[in-house]
Amino acid sequence: MAFRPADWPRRLRSQEWYGGTSRDNIYHRGWLKNQGYPHDLFDGRPVIGILNTWSDLTPCNGHLRELAEKVKAGIWEAGGLPLEVPVFSASENTFRPTAMMYRNLAAMAVEETMRAQPIDGAVLMVGCDKTTPSLIMGAASTDIPSIVVTGGPMLNGWFRGERVGSGTALWQMSEDIKAGKMSQEDFLEAEQAMSRSTGTCNTMGTASTMASMAEALGMALSGNAAIPAVDARRRVMAQISGRRIVQMVKDDLKPSDVLTRAAFENAIRCNGAIGGSTNAVVHLLAIAGRCGVDITLDDWDRLGRDVPTIVNLMPSGKYLMEEFFYAGGLPVVLKRLGEAGMLHKDALTVSGGAIWDEVKDAVNWNEDVIRPADKALTASGGIAVLRGNLAPEGAVLKPSAASPHLLRHRGRAVVFEDIDDYKAKIADDTLDIDETCVMVLKNCGPKGYPGMSEVGNMGLPPKVLKKGITDMVRVSDARMSGTAYGTVVLHTAPEAAVGGPLAVVRDGDMIELDVEARRLTLDIPDDELLRRLGDWTAREEAPQSGYAKLFHDHVEGADTGADFDFLRGCRGRDVPKDSH
Ligand code: FES
Repeated sequence: MAFRPADWPRRLRSQEWYGGTSRDNIYHRGWLKNQGYPHDLFDGRPVIGILNTWSDLTPCNGHLRELAEKVKAGIWEAGGLPLEVPVFSASENTFRPTAMMYRNLAAMAVEETMRAQPIDGAVLMVGCDKTTPSLIMGAASTDIPSIVVTGGPMLNGWFRGERVGSGTALWQMSEDIKAGKMSQEDFLEAEQAMSRSTGTCNTMGTASTMASMAEALGMALSGNAAIPAVDARRRVMAQISGRRIVQMVKDDLKPSDVLTRAAFENAIRCNGAIGGSTNAVVHLLAIAGRCGVDITLDDWDRLGRDVPTIVNLMPSGKYLMEEFFYAGGLPVVLKRLGEAGMLHKDALTVSGGAIWDEVKDAVNWNEDVIRPADKALTASGGIAVLRGNLAPEGAVLKPSAASPHLLRHRGRAVVFEDIDDYKAKIADDTLDIDETCVMVLKNCGPKGYPGMSEVGNMGLPPKVLKKGITDMVRVSDARMSGTAYGTVVLHTAPEAAVGGPLAVVRDGDMIELDVEARRLTLDIPDDELLRRLGDWTAREEAPQSGYAKLFHDHVEGADTGADFDFLRGCRGRDVPKDSH
């Protein structure tokens, strides 16, 4: 794609605040001068907002203030004026009921922060799971030039000679405790080994997936996703991204130039190749909704179906992000996709050039970490989109994280009405359940939880684990952590809380999963299903006030990205009227 830079110099939007001699100009400029900025910095140069999700309560992004100093250095070098701006930081490991409930709020806050202030371009400093999509969503809705800088993954964790993958090891060890294979003391000792350095989860969980998605979409410079948080090259990346955003403003290279249908198709295929998180489905659908790009669940299935998973990282594989970086990182994967005819090579990136030019010379330094196609972890690594009378608007499953022998399975439903019901029953040895059953969890979707929690990979009953069984088919309207694994059907839509068919599944019903045929079927007669749906009533009253009400009244289904209905689309960058 040939990008046509805009004429330069020209008057930027920040000059509406700073460029002139009116009372209002002096008001805006004069107050900023209390920080010691010389008058000539307001001469029409690009004002760059460094939108920073640093927070002591978002430990995965805890180093982003330090990294922002390198971004600032790059902006100064390129002749811009850097201004660091804290923005809503939805931490995965602290927000309750789930950070996902606040992704849209964060996106809304970022959008208004950008539009309402003298920002000509933005550096989106992100890392922890929801921080990446929320800032890209906000930037897409303003269409102000923006570039993503992620904080990078933590170094490998090690415990007694084994890799400890963020999240993945936690799920595994907690199952081992229930199965009597690990002591609580060892579990506490392993805790110390999980997070060796600053940075995001070191598995191909949601944070690493979304960093990869940002790069595959073209919103980050090539190579950004995998550089460890503490590697000096992460700081170099921050500095050159700071330089780059200044030129992007001069060229008026906007999110809408980058986030095209071709970019989303590249990202979806890339997700299959890296064995990325199912959370990418809801986030990319939501971002596409902001851009007016018509990407659907069916595109996920169609585009990912023939993509082999070649990145051998937990939770699908063996290694961690540090090793992915040493092997060559995402550019190698994108090069492979290009060679296989699975990449829109001319898709524009924030570099100002085509994505193929960024990756065509990438070298794979470790063919066990980034495998050749004939040694792929899974030949069909994309996200499988299932439909049927149990999921008329779709459900998803990640084949690379599932057990091959369960991809076609028929079993008796054991139903949990919500997560509390699950917790109350699961350890009860009198629960009528064995490994052939299908565990069904309801009321964990966007409205039901609320926020669509990552509980879809519900742990197996201890009495099944003690038999040495490690996987069962599970079906829910919840999400699953990107670090988790199992034969887990997620995002079932419509969700139970709005009366989707999941709501009327009963103990003892037979459920059939056929991933190859993309089918999820509740095996009861049609008239019985209709009768049950007709008798269904909502379980709880909707919230009456506060953000919970806004969320409940406006969140859309998982099948379209769970954004708010009133936030779809791009509202542009026009300056609001001055109030002074
Ligand atoms: Fe923040 Fe995993 S919990 S990146």
